[in-house]
Amino acid sequence: MSPLSNDQWTMLRHEAQQAAARAYAPYSKLRVGAAALTTDGRLITGQNVENASYGLTLCAECSLVSDLARQGGGRLAAVMVVAGDGEHLTPCGRCRQLLFEHGGPQLEVCGDRPESSALLDTLIPGAFGPADLDARSEA
Ligand code: THU
Repeated sequence: MSPLSNDQWTMLRHEAQQAAARAYAPYSKLRVGAAALTTDGRLITGQNVENASYGLTLCAECSLVSDLARQGGGRLAAVMVVAGDGEHLTPCGRCRQLLFEHGGPQLEVCGDRPESSALLDTLIPGAFGPADLDARSEA
């Protein structure tokens, strides 16, 4: 279902900004929201949840994949991450790996305009993933 239509891009941006409004970010003061479409057309969202220990902070993408599991799982087709002002943010390194697990290299990562999306493969080239475990595990 890639690439996204302009309407889908606008909807994801709106939903991501709505999610960012529910962030718990008293330390960084950077609200982050994420919204995704699954390959079967469901909307998934998440927002960052910080912690006084800092290192335990959950990124918006962490709660996004929790929402995916809560909805019964499936595969991510496209994802949008924004700050509280609605402007596009690029996923951090750890979250690129998280997204790879649930969307694979062809996951569409939305940019700041409908026509400037990137495939996850370009953001985390040569990613380690489930196939590497299948191929190399001794179990
Ligand atoms: N953050 C995310 O939620 N996702 C990212 O991909 C980058 C960073 C959050 C974590 C923390 O709450 C705040 O942004 C500042 O790093």
